[in-house]
Amino acid sequence: MTQLALIKKAVTFINKKTKNFKPEIALITGSGLAGSVPALTQKVTIPYAAIPGFLRSTVPGHTGNLIFGVYKGRKIVVMQGRFHYYEGHPMKDLAISIRTLKMLGVEKLLVSAAVGSMDMKLKPGSLCVLKDHINFMCNNPLIGNHDPAFGPMFFDLTVAYDKEMRKVALAAAKKAHINAGEGVYLAVTGPNFETPSEIQMFKKWGATVVGMSVVPEVLVARQCGIAVLGLAWVTNLGCGISKTPLSHEETIRETKKIEGKFKDLLEILFVKL
Ligand code: HPA
Repeated sequence: MTQLALIKKAVTFINKKTKNFKPEIALITGSGLAGSVPALTQKVTIPYAAIPGFLRSTVPGHTGNLIFGVYKGRKIVVMQGRFHYYEGHPMKDLAISIRTLKMLGVEKLLVSAAVGSMDMKLKPGSLCVLKDHINFMCNNPLIGNHDPAFGPMFFDLTVAYDKEMRKVALAAAKKAHINAGEGVYLAVTGPNFETPSEIQMFKKWGATVVGMSVVPEVLVARQCGIAVLGLAWVTNLGCGISKTPLSHEETIRETKKIEGKFKDLLEILFVKL
């Protein structure tokens, strides 16, 4: 079956469950950030495992649900838990969920993630609002995976991260008393954290934060015309800058501290975006 046929099947299944709920805003929650979602009304939760053709999340800290609901009149869908390249999913399969969101009607995508920071102004607990990215995964979910139904094969990325949404996010962060700044996301495959030399190189390249997700999702979203806001939460300083060894446990521990702030931010963003 082609990816398009697979996605159409998933969309039909979801529309039946939600009675054709048409979400405008989608949110992808990163490691440990699933608890940040503001309370939604008219909630419908569908486990990824129940959706035909959907992948399954295998990482601790990433639950796998698609949650539909309304927040103060705005129609929202949350991808609670994401899929990573390092889990062994073929890169092109990472396009499935984003293309499904597009077909459900999503116009704006909020991508959240835990990251390591190379900027001393963005210490753990800070928010990096993404203004651009560097794809150092050396792979791309769009390779060998084209159908004109998903958008043009060649497309411009001068503004991958929506300027207006970035402005709104920075203002919202200020209102919620969150230390925030704009920055560039550098994507690695993981699953290992970086070496100190890699971090120094990424810093020279102009990267602000580093992580193991975001970019495949953003590429798929931009191809099909979804506007993107990237919200990278700093859980640690990059390897070699951090005084302690990095671990997934640290990432999860730090995101637990961030959860409340992120919820405050989302309560503003779901209304203002
Ligand atoms: N590197 C890559 N991914 C991450 C990091 C990091 O330091 N922290 C959280 N996710």
